[in-house]
Amino acid sequence: MAAGDLPAADTRGRPLRDLRISVTDRCQFRCTYCMPRDIFGRDFAFLPRQDLLTFEELTRLGRVFAGLGVRKLRLTGGEPLLRRDLERLVAMLAGIDGVEDIALTTNGALLARKARLLAAAGLRRVTVSLDSLDDAVFMALNDAAFPVAGVLDAIAVAAGAGLPVKVNMVVKHGCNDQSVLPMAEHFRGSGHVLRFIEFMDVGTTNGWRLDDVVPAAEIIALIGERWPLEPLAASYPGEVACRYRYRDGGGEIGVIASVTQPFCRGCTRARLSAEGSLYTCLFAGAGHDLRGPLRGGASDEALRAQVASVWTRRADRYSELRSLATRPKQKVEMSHIGG
Ligand SMILES: C[S@@+](CC[C@H](N)C(=O)[O-])C[C@H]1O[C@@H](n2cnc3c(N)ncnc32)[C@H](O)[C@@H]1O
Ligand code: SF4
Repeated sequence: MAAGDLPAADTRGRPLRDLRISVTDRCQFRCTYCMPRDIFGRDFAFLPRQDLLTFEELTRLGRVFAGLGVRKLRLTGGEPLLRRDLERLVAMLAGIDGVEDIALTTNGALLARKARLLAAAGLRRVTVSLDSLDDAVFMALNDAAFPVAGVLDAIAVAAGAGLPVKVNMVVKHGCNDQSVLPMAEHFRGSGHVLRFIEFMDVGTTNGWRLDDVVPAAEIIALIGERWPLEPLAASYPGEVACRYRYRDGGGEIGVIASVTQPFCRGCTRARLSAEGSLYTCLFAGAGHDLRGPLRGGASDEALRAQVASVWTRRADRYSELRSLATRPKQKVEMSHIGG
């Protein structure tokens, strides 16, 4: 492939446009739907420091991916703000030709003290996770005794730093479905887009059962009964959230219905795990090692050819095929590759 040519799309015609970078597999929360404490306890072996890609390595890969068509980067984890001086990485990534957008997904615990530095470094927007406004419910889910007020404060500081904020709420049946309406009410009119996420069968440790999923259609019906809603068009091709707006002008909400309304068809995302493996699907069983070649002296051109070859062979559509018969036995954990 000549330099400057973008690779062909994958086997389903999907181009490579977004890269989600997990900068650490560690987290100070133990959300029951992601890193349950009985499995990821205090003694759980996280990756040794030397296994994580350095900021320089991540920037080099960022450049390789940008050369292949990636325009949006999202930093995630684990909890990305546990990675010291993350703003330095943001500044390095912001300097890459072709990168138009850098976002961060965070639990918010360390965001208040970092928001201004991150915005000054070139972060364009932030998604903050918050699953309830009720401390008892939220703490039962995060299993780290972290209070709601800490997250609300982080959201306010981030917005004050000029960062557009979205709020992610994972809805798990029997855990926080009663928090849907209070969350909708709180964020109506705030300018922050609240997005409800169906509990997904990511990884193998969160004990996922279909019965625990609250279908997005139910969430929309519940909210729409109280505050009438109307659907909005996607703001860009391949957007994962279905958007709605309050008819009374109260702003916008979204639902991410990866279980009940799979969006594999428009998926243009690649994912880089904290240890430098490339995954072409959130539900993948195995990644493609890039750290080995990166540390083994591979040229940029060789890395680019490797990524292009993985992408052009990509056929993933796990959510569309979701069934016991097709589910791989071992799937990568959310904390390794981020959401
Ligand atoms: C893995 S977290 C990483 C970033 C950060 N620690 C956070 O919580 O925002 C990214 C997103 O995935 C969501 N998530 C984690 N496990 C999930 C699951 N099983 N189903 C649906 N969403 C999940 C989280 O709520 C969060 O919004
Ligand atoms: S969802 Fe985020 S905050 Fe919760 S355990 Fe997973 S990585 Fe940590």
